[in-house]
Amino acid sequence: MEKFGNVLKAPEVEGREKHVPVIKAPAKAKAGEAFDVTVIVGESVPHPNTLEHHIKWIQVYAKLDKGMVVHLGTFDFGPTYAEPRVTFPVKLNESAIIYALEYCNIHGVWENSVAVKVE
Ligand SMILES: [Fe+2]
Repeated sequence: MEKFGNVLKAPEVEGREKHVPVIKAPAKAKAGEAFDVTVIVGESVPHPNTLEHHIKWIQVYAKLDKGMVVHLGTFDFGPTYAEPRVTFPVKLNESAIIYALEYCNIHGVWENSVAVKVE
């Protein structure tokens, strides 16, 4: 079986400046207290935003310390009108790795991750 993970593009792939989702989250958070997570595509070099070439969606997941993977949010963008940037509150009760995926209709699915230590 061919795995979907094999098509995911990592932060070191060519074209990364316009595609890798930048995740802004605190390195540390308090258990049960909301903190903001921001995901931006094209922060340093803007990605095109036309009907022909645009970022369609961002998905965010957390892999909890105990191993469970939870869906935090899916954000679908209207090309040309909406920019691929989102901020939303997250509450965790244990440390986690936060993963962001984004889909460019020409260049595929890109990923990034950050760790949040929960105390
Ligand atoms: Fe693209």
